[in-house]
Parts: sequence; structure tokens; C-alpha cells
Amino acid sequence: MQQRIKDILHQGQVGDRVTVKGWVRTKRELKECTFVNVNDGSTLAGLQVVIPNTVAAATPAIKDLTTGAAAEFSGELVRSPGKNQTIELHAQQIHLWGGADPETYPLQKKRHSFEFLRTIGHLRPRTNTLGAVMRVRNACATAIHQFFQERGFLWVHTPIITASDCEGAGELFTVTTLDFTSEGNIDFSQDFFGRRAYLTVSGQLEAEIMATAFTNVYTFGPTFRAENSNTSRHLAEFWMVEPEMAFCDLMGDMELAETFLQFVFRYVLDHCPEDMAFFQERIDHSVMATAEQMASQPFARLSYTEAIQVLEKSGRAFEFPVAWGLDLQSEHERYLAEEYCQRPVIVYDYPAAIKAFYMRLNEDGKTVAAMDVLAPKIGEIIGGSQREERFDVLQERILTQGLDPAPYWWYLDLRRYGSVPHAGFGLGFERLVQFMTGMDNIRDVIPFPRTPGNAEF
Ligand code: 4AD
Ligand code: MG
Repeated sequence: MQQRIKDILHQGQVGDRVTVKGWVRTKRELKECTFVNVNDGSTLAGLQVVIPNTVAAATPAIKDLTTGAAAEFSGELVRSPGKNQTIELHAQQIHLWGGADPETYPLQKKRHSFEFLRTIGHLRPRTNTLGAVMRVRNACATAIHQFFQERGFLWVHTPIITASDCEGAGELFTVTTLDFTSEGNIDFSQDFFGRRAYLTVSGQLEAEIMATAFTNVYTFGPTFRAENSNTSRHLAEFWMVEPEMAFCDLMGDMELAETFLQFVFRYVLDHCPEDMAFFQERIDHSVMATAEQMASQPFARLSYTEAIQVLEKSGRAFEFPVAWGLDLQSEHERYLAEEYCQRPVIVYDYPAAIKAFYMRLNEDGKTVAAMDVLAPKIGEIIGGSQREERFDVLQERILTQGLDPAPYWWYLDLRRYGSVPHAGFGLGFERLVQFMTGMDNIRDVIPFPRTPGNAEF
């Protein structure tokens, strides 16, 4: 395995002989030597390589060590006289792996807009911001697995292709091998799966199956929604983390959501100090305070009915109407979290009519045991509920929501055989990374965003 720049910067000693491989960020030619900053993606700060003129003279490839070129440097670590680093590499041998034509390489030293960077999705991972985002994203994923594994949750792999609409919202992509050049009605019985199939919007229904065998499980995988929302918080393909717990009610679900988010924020603060400092300085001056608060303070809690009262009394002129029975819009969610509570807030017991069929009906007959975690600036980051475990009530709810019960036969069956109270939630993974890093647009926290009209790279 090759040496990584992160380890060299943290553990390297003066006098060590090292070889680094990476991509040139900058090159400065001075009288006696040339400075090259090289980065291999392991860390924000690259390694400063000093090439003495004697070595440069013997290395014709040096002229091609331009921004974007891939190269290898071997030599000795020395104490750096510069103020930006403590050690640097005095190169004795240089190998150019692949040049990058300075006339056409799009990532020159100046700062580029995130909009522009999205058009060069194959090169933007080499920028400081995307590099920091991807390392924080990786740390979030590691923390998520660690949290659940330490608590005995089984990681289950739910299917990506499915025949049922979990959320019942009809925002499904169809998966087909049928040839659409022919005219007329589509006969899905002739299709690959012998029926109409979709990309999943959530692994929840299958996670519920697994929870009735393994008690505590979680999924972590891609989900797809054909929502035509061109916003800074929506993707057509995003990753979701969905824990599901048997013998658990809404209270237990809310507790898990809170402990879970606190754990992930603490993990990232502990493991990514350099990248978090970068976001604090360059992207959003409040990310460190927010992360610290997320990691250490309890969330606020409000019932939906209380939340509506708060919004009605706020004196705010909201764009969307506020009334009991209407769904909360992002402006309402943000008001509750950012201004009223000034921290994340869990809103629970929503009206049954605006929530999915599987949520457990409360005693009042009007609300369901649902909960959303609303975060400052992002709004909804987690959506979850206790599930309806009573066969008759569930069947009734499927029908009143205008859904065809047929594809849900097995889901209903779970209520016939060993049914127990159970609950779970879904965390939008990109919304978490967005919240963690302070990035404005969700398209900049996933390597290859899929949005209406865009599936490049
Ligand atoms: O609230 P949602 O729709 O809940 C479910 O899908 C449940 N089946 C989860 C469960 O209980 N197991 O979605 C969950 C989360 C949202 O809170 C949001 O963070 C994220 O998924 N999300 C999106 N993220 C990015 N782009 C989109 N289009 C998203 N839609 C939902
Ligand atoms: Mg939701």
C-alpha cells in the first residue's frame, strides 16, 4: 500500500524517506527550486514538495507538472521554513504519470462557482470543497454503521426494484425492458418481471419484514423519487438510512432518532476536524456551533397541534397557509426549528390524512403516531412513525388512501402472524451531510447528483 499524504502530514518525521503519488494542485517556480503542492484526496491540505534546480535539470518531465497532472515524488522529509506547513518533501526523484494540458484543464487555481463545478462532475472531486464534503460523507456513513452495529441492529439489504409504493405518493420511476416505440397501451404482464415494477422510494416495508425476525434492523441504500421538485433539498436519487425496531413505540422511535443524530455529529467532530474547520471558514460560519449543539443538547419536541398553534401565533406572513390539517411546508419547518426552538425539533402526531397509510392511528382517530425531525436551515431531515400493527385498521387505512390492497398482501400478512408494535424512521443521508457541512445545495453533497433533466456522469 502506498503512503498517504494525510499520514505523512500527521506522523511523518524529519529525515523519513517517503514516496507520494497524487495530483498537482499548484506549481511555483523560483530561482533555486520549484514548489509543487500535491494532493491525493486523503486530506484537505496537500503536501508541499520542493524540487531543487539540480533535480529539475535532470528531469525533463518537470515542465509538465502543471495543475491537474498525476505525479509521483520520492525524497526526504525536512522541516519547512514556510508558515503553512511544518514539514515538506525534498524530492530527489519525480515521475510524471499523466499530464494535464494547462490550455484546456478546467480547474485552474481561481475559485469556481458550484454551478460551474456541477458541469464538470468528473473533475470536481479534485476541488477542496468536494474533497472535504466526500470525506465528511464517508465519516457520516462510518458513524451510522458503528452506531447501529454497537447496538445490535442487523444491517439488511432491501431491494432496489419493487412492485409496491411504500409512501403511497406515486412518485415512482418505472423499471421496464419493454420497447416504447410501439404505440398503444402498455401491457406490463409482458414486461421483464411479469408486472409493473419500480425503483424503490424506501426500503421500509421490507425492513418491517426483517424486524419481525431480527427485532432491530436497519437499511442504508439508494432510494429514488420522481418528484419534480427542483429545489436545493431534493434529489431524484438519494441515500436513506432506515432503522426499524420491533417491540417499540413512537417514544422509543424519537429517542433513537435523537441519540442517533447526536452520535453521528459527535463522530464527525472527532474525526474530521480539518474538514469541519474548512466548512466553518469558507462555507458557513455557524457549522461548528450547530454541530456542537447537535452532538450535545436534547432536541425540542412539539405535537403537530402545538406546532400549528405556534405558527398561528407567530405573526409571520408565510407564503403557504397554516391550519390544522394542512401539511407543514419547509418555511414552517424552518421557523419552528430556527426561530421558535432555535435547535432541532421533533414534531409528532400528525393528521392521518396527510401521512402515509402505514402509520399507526392514534386513539383520537384523527392523528397518527408519526414524527419528523426538523433541523435549522434544512427543515425535515428525518421522517418516521410507529407502524399500524392491527390488521383491520391497516386494511382500512390502505383503502381510505385510495390504494390497491393487492400488492400489499404480504405486508398485511405480517399483521396476521406474530404482529407486534414496531416503529422506525428514515434519515435522508444527503440532508444530513448538507446540514453537517453547511452546503447550500444538496447537489453538492453527493458525487453524482440526479435531478430533473440531469443524469450526466
Ligand atoms: O419522510 P420520508 O418520505 O419517509 C419515508 O420514506 C419512510 N418510509 C421512512 C421510514 O419511516 N422508514 O423520507 C425520509 C427522509 C426525509 O425526511 C428526507 O430527509 C429524505 O428522506 N428525503 C429526501 N432527500 C433528498 N431528496 C429527496 N427527494 C427526498 N425525499 C425524502
Ligand atoms: Mg417525510
